[in-house]
Amino acid sequence: MSNPSLLILPGDGIGPEVMDQVVRVIDWFGAKRDMPFDVSTDLVGGAAYDAHGTPLHDDTMAKALQVDAVLLGAVGGPKYDDLDFSVKPERGLLRLRKEMDLFSNLRPAQCFDALADFSSLKKDIVAGLDIMIVRELTSGVYFGEPRGIFEEGNERVGINTQRYTEGEIERAARSAFDLAMKRSKKLCSMEKANVMESGILWREVVTRVGQDYPEVELSHMYADNGAMQLVRAPKQFDVIVTDNLFGDILSDCAAMLTGSLGMLPSASLGAPMENGRARAMYEPVHGSAPDIAGQGKANPIACMLSFAMALRYSFDHGDEATRLENAIEKVLADGARTADLMGPEGGTALSTTEMGDVILAALDASP
Ligand code: NAD
Ligand code: IPM
Ligand code: MN
Repeated sequence: MSNPSLLILPGDGIGPEVMDQVVRVIDWFGAKRDMPFDVSTDLVGGAAYDAHGTPLHDDTMAKALQVDAVLLGAVGGPKYDDLDFSVKPERGLLRLRKEMDLFSNLRPAQCFDALADFSSLKKDIVAGLDIMIVRELTSGVYFGEPRGIFEEGNERVGINTQRYTEGEIERAARSAFDLAMKRSKKLCSMEKANVMESGILWREVVTRVGQDYPEVELSHMYADNGAMQLVRAPKQFDVIVTDNLFGDILSDCAAMLTGSLGMLPSASLGAPMENGRARAMYEPVHGSAPDIAGQGKANPIACMLSFAMALRYSFDHGDEATRLENAIEKVLADGARTADLMGPEGGTALSTTEMGDVILAALDASP
């Protein structure tokens, strides 16, 4: 049998910096755990635009559809701000999500004990936090038609359309209920059914799907209240399911509960293919961080935890995913910090590569 295949798309800004550390981790698993991967690397985002005039070359798209999993760093940056909308770096990422049909985006927010003091919230509000946001990723206002900037009388109008079919809501809901069954059997669905028809349909379909999961305690919340509750008392939640745009915003919000955006991984999953494996892409929640790019300051942990999610969800190696997560938890407990994790007490920040060094050493020492 051939090795599992990975397509690595480092992207822009800090993307390549954090991905370098993940490649070291992938090599470690190949060498020390006898888990070799067939790795290929390609361009996405601004880097692809610079080389090919498009943020995602068709050949890269074709490769992404062939491999077992894609690992992506981040895309975008000020250099590309003035590009035509159709070739902006972000369009490359959105095309990957759409054409791979990755409708279920899992964004866990877990507060490591060692970082509880560092969250912008009080320690007892976040200590022990472990929630999962399931964000619908291939529809909603990100993709709905009509869209565009049009002339209307003597001014222009910008239009985007929030659109959800019952089928799209149902498959996202099912993936969230399935996850809830494996966790604490509690699911909160967030929309704005008070003002949006798509929200009314969302609530109706999620409730209907819930009849197939009688053990799961389902609740509904308006998304604005959800944002407030996430910072007021985040531990009331376990799994949250929500649409594409609300999920984008709520997951950045949840990121700060964990201490830094540099800590939050994600998995984007599609339906199972003929070989039983789901199409999948793994990426940190953060972006290309232009303000720190090129300085060796980026925290590589979100990207490493994204690879841990790949081990768990694509490669059936939950045990090895836990090994990597434990190594990360251990170095944090020992005080290893990149600049984004420095509290008011100060101290010396590790560079991106130094954080990689200590995590590899912790992997070497793992039982
Ligand atoms: P960002 O996530 O890039 O940065 C927000 C803040 O968090 C910055 O201060 C940054 O320094 C910090 N930060 C982010 N990741 C970090 C890490 N790993 N370590 C330390 N600090 C980190 O968001 P932004 O500034 O709004 O967006 C910048 C660019 O990235 C934009 O072009 C945007 O479209 C793009 N973006 C891409 C993705 C993606 O590729 N998945 C996600 C979000 C934003
Ligand atoms: C994210 C990002 C993307 C999104 C952008 C870069 C297209 O913010 O992955 O959270 O809006 O989905
Ligand atoms: Mn986002």
